[in-house]
Amino acid sequence: MSIGKKARAAFLADVIDGLSAKPRTLPCKYFYDARGSELFEAICECPEYYLTRADLALHEQHLGEIGERVGPGAHVIEFGSGAGIKTRKLLAGLERPRAYTPIEISAAALKVSARQLASDFPDIEIRPLQADYTRDIDAERLQLDPPSRRRVVYFPGSTIGNFDHAEAIEFLRRMGRIARAGGAILIGVDLMKPESQLVAAYDDAAGITADFNLNLLVRMRNELDAELDVDAFAHEARFNREENRIEMHLVATRDTVIGLDGQRFEFAAGDGIHTESSHKYSVDDFRALAARAGLASRHVWKDPAGLFSMHWLEQAEP
Ligand code: AVI
Repeated sequence: MSIGKKARAAFLADVIDGLSAKPRTLPCKYFYDARGSELFEAICECPEYYLTRADLALHEQHLGEIGERVGPGAHVIEFGSGAGIKTRKLLAGLERPRAYTPIEISAAALKVSARQLASDFPDIEIRPLQADYTRDIDAERLQLDPPSRRRVVYFPGSTIGNFDHAEAIEFLRRMGRIARAGGAILIGVDLMKPESQLVAAYDDAAGITADFNLNLLVRMRNELDAELDVDAFAHEARFNREENRIEMHLVATRDTVIGLDGQRFEFAAGDGIHTESSHKYSVDDFRALAARAGLASRHVWKDPAGLFSMHWLEQAEP
């Protein structure tokens, strides 16, 4: 499948930057083309990948309490398309929500989910906003007339874990500005657990996560005309103890070369490309991170097995 000229130029520039860096990296946002998104959905069904099930179980177990905290007449603003089952559970569990705004970069994904939500929740004003939620969002476009009683920024899953700490703090700060004084952030955060469990979750036996990771090379070959041999690389999931994160790498299984845009990137067997980090937090570690963004964690819920958490963040007192 071909991509637009601008998107291709950005992808090429990012790949050249990443392969020229030491250590070599590729941005994880490029996992999610149509094939990558399908593979991610399949990962969520893998027996080893506990996150999605735990997040859902948390919603099921604590929806009543979450709804009480949100209160009546809220404007729920989700970072993501809102196509998931968790959004539906949340909206169904709230008292007379005033409006719901999914923020999503893909116009197609947004259109489908907004249409479906409008038909399933006819009493809620559905106000989709096409934007890249990793960048600044025009505050005007979130304004309701009359204003809602409270804004709640909703970010389930554990995508915050894919940011490094400095990025996560900046991201939380921006969420706080969107929630405004009196508002709140409801954010999913994956918890620390034994290394073997984490490695299995990011290197499932069926090889779906491996295909998800290797799909980056397939995209480079198909969309950037990179000369490379996908079979010369293998997926690897490693736990980085110092950083409390699981990392995904593409590791050369033999000497090989990636040719791209007139440049040659040489790999000796064992050389790798770092493609994703998934930070894991204790409740206290995440509280401390949020505090650095000027936010106070006022409540934390966990799923029944204690694998996953959801924090309720508010502006800290000055
Ligand atoms: C999207 N994100 C929260 C996933 C994670 O667990 O870090 C992406 C993923 N990477 C490998 N498996 C799933």
